[in-house]
Amino acid sequence: MTGYCGIGIMRHKRDHNIGTLWRSAYILGASYIFTIGKSYKKQTSDVLKSWTKIPLFHYETFEDFKKHLPYDCRLIGIELDERATPLKEFVHPKRCVYLLGAEDNGLPPKVLDECHALIQLPGTNSLNVAVTGSIVLNDRVEKIPMKLP
Ligand SMILES: C[S@@+](CC[C@H](N)C(=O)[O-])C[C@H]1O[C@@H](n2cnc3c(N)ncnc32)[C@H](O)[C@@H]1O
Repeated sequence: MTGYCGIGIMRHKRDHNIGTLWRSAYILGASYIFTIGKSYKKQTSDVLKSWTKIPLFHYETFEDFKKHLPYDCRLIGIELDERATPLKEFVHPKRCVYLLGAEDNGLPPKVLDECHALIQLPGTNSLNVAVTGSIVLNDRVEKIPMKLP
């Protein structure tokens, strides 16, 4: 039993980052992706047609998103933050949802406070948001044996 995960971005600025994340999410075994606060307009560059493989859910607000988290599922914020666990040391929950922040401002402090855990990647500079999400999903695949599509 490998559980499942979802991954998404809150108030993303660029649709191509959602497209890239969607593709990585499908390839790296996530069950779904989501947006919060800003919906996604389909990109013609998605050659894999990720929208045919795993669903994208949209939530108007963080409160709406939180209310609809799956049962017994951890919310993991991905952010450079002094409270965050380095990804290398992180034990991924069997069931969790990973939340990434906007390209300009990251995750709001209130949202960081409401996550069950925070994780960060090495370095002091921010990576591209879709690249970050892809690295986290790859780490999950490395640590939790699972069957990929
Ligand atoms: C480009 S970053 C936002 C940077 C923003 N200027 C700031 O300083 O808060 C967009 C998102 O990518 C993710 N991210 C980028 N680099 C990261 C890192 N090293 N560790 C954890 N998350 C990272 C976070 O989710 C972040 O909210």
